[in-house]
Amino acid sequence: MKSLIVANWKCNPTSLKKAKRLFNLIKKGIKSIKNTEVVICPSFVHIPILGAFVSTRQKASFCRLALGSQDCFWEGKGAFTGEISPLMLKDLGCRYVILGHSERRKYLIETDEMINKKMKKVLEFGLKSIICIGEKKGEGFDILKSQLQNGLKGISKKNIKNIIVAYEPIFAIGTGKSCSLDKVLSVSLFIRKMIYKKYGRTAAENLKILYGGSINKENAKSYITEAGVNGLLVGGASLKADEFVAIAKRCGIRTKISKIS
Ligand code: PGA
Repeated sequence: MKSLIVANWKCNPTSLKKAKRLFNLIKKGIKSIKNTEVVICPSFVHIPILGAFVSTRQKASFCRLALGSQDCFWEGKGAFTGEISPLMLKDLGCRYVILGHSERRKYLIETDEMINKKMKKVLEFGLKSIICIGEKKGEGFDILKSQLQNGLKGISKKNIKNIIVAYEPIFAIGTGKSCSLDKVLSVSLFIRKMIYKKYGRTAAENLKILYGGSINKENAKSYITEAGVNGLLVGGASLKADEFVAIAKRCGIRTKISKIS
């Protein structure tokens, strides 16, 4: 399975000039990496301009660069002031949409129900959805279970291949204190088992799981090789081209498809 390395730029950079520069440095840096898909998720306002730099003709075995967004609305169009629809994102060349990031759950009070509605629209329009789940320090697996169960409510077996699950423990985001490999391994097995129960073996084995939270070039590879995940969701480090390219380079290995027993 190809590794998937996703850059979540959040509310950065603050000028188009800086966004273009960062994007092009990353694009150049990852050119020769194999077996990896890199997805850059800039702010909405930068998507149309950066989309013009994404080539659609890249050889399948080479690293491909795709564009994603950090959120979207749950309707395709209409009287929803200030919202961005997944159809608009698709039209601009986005292939992925991050949903349910903990910062949106916290600052925008997004609920599982809202995330589920968004997910359904994203899938309806043929985009891939990256659903983020994560617990606060001291919380257990129950919260992860309910976030995933509620987020996937009504999602069919046919659509599960277009869903990626990102495990992002809140205590590890932006703190410089990444989650232990053992913990990420047990959560990734837990997620795969949940998918197995609901959608069957093939879906569980082929599910892409990402880890996110204080990833840097030193710790990146160990998550892919030792923690049962197939990629990374990178925040702060994705704003430094050299660091992000180094992360993508170190993860450019074919990850094993995890067998469920
Ligand atoms: P971080 O953020 O890499 O800065 O910890 C990760 C995320 O929020 O997706």
